Amino acid sequence: MYTIIFSLLCGGVFIDCKEVIANYWNFRSSTYANGVNGFDEEERTVWKQIFEKSLAPGKSLKVLDVGTGTGFLALLFAEIGHEVTGIDLSEGMLEKAKHNADNMGLKIDLFHGDAENLPFEDCSFDLVVNKYLLWTLQEPACAVREWKRVLKPEGMIFSIDGNWFDPRPDRHIKRMLSELAERFAKKNQYNLIFKKSYDPIRNSLPLYEKISPENISILFSETGLVNTAINPLPGVQKFQRNRHSLSQRLLKNNSIFLISGQKKQE
Ligand SMILES: C[S@@+](CC[C@H](N)C(=O)[O-])C[C@H]1O[C@@H](n2cnc3c(N)ncnc32)[C@H](O)[C@@H]1O
Repeated sequence: MYTIIFSLLCGGVFIDCKEVIANYWNFRSSTYANGVNGFDEEERTVWKQIFEKSLAPGKSLKVLDVGTGTGFLALLFAEIGHEVTGIDLSEGMLEKAKHNADNMGLKIDLFHGDAENLPFEDCSFDLVVNKYLLWTLQEPACAVREWKRVLKPEGMIFSIDGNWFDPRPDRHIKRMLSELAERFAKKNQYNLIFKKSYDPIRNSLPLYEKISPENISILFSETGLVNTAINPLPGVQKFQRNRHSLSQRLLKNNSIFLISGQKKQE
């Protein structure tokens, strides 16, 4: 129902935003690499250090990775010893996640579904994580409410994102130059398909251009999460910059951050 109403609002033309998003990520699933080099061990170590620092050692948690994609975070948490469930809108991405789990000899439970309407019972998880998801949601506030619903009291949410489409003029120009450089070097043919998919729906995605640590933190507080904290991730940023080409290094300057919040004790 909500999908249809939102679809109708996409410029007055009938566009099913979720279908567009699922189709784009199905297409992208054949080439999508997390970070710079896919499941690069060094990159995985950088991420693992972040989570090992923030979680009590030796305790196995029930973790939900929302918008799991090819399973990067889900498999990282499974490797650290947690019991992990991943959910995604794209069946193509889920197939990749399953393939990656089999290759790594790890077990995760995978579900096809919507971050804004989760098929899980209340109070089922200790930790809900998501990486690079909030910017592409139609109803981020509804999603965070759902994540809080499925969390046990005192459970945590970790949202990781970056300011990918910062509309400030200097960032916009840098992005355009970076895209041109990549197109010239024939490095990124996905940009065109990305634009074709997302340009007609971007106005229906409230955080598309507005994703920032502050806005996520406000969203968390408005949803009733407590102990919200903004954590910049300079280690991840440094690692990714070192792996980028010179033109990307000069022109791309996204900040990557983790916002955490906790469900109150009832
Ligand atoms: C940029 S990718 C990130 C994937 C993964 N979290 C990672 O960091 O590698 C965004 C993912 O979110 C998924 N997605 C988008 N909208 C969604 C929704 N409403 N519910 C569940 N997944 C969604 C896409 O299918 C895609 O796999």
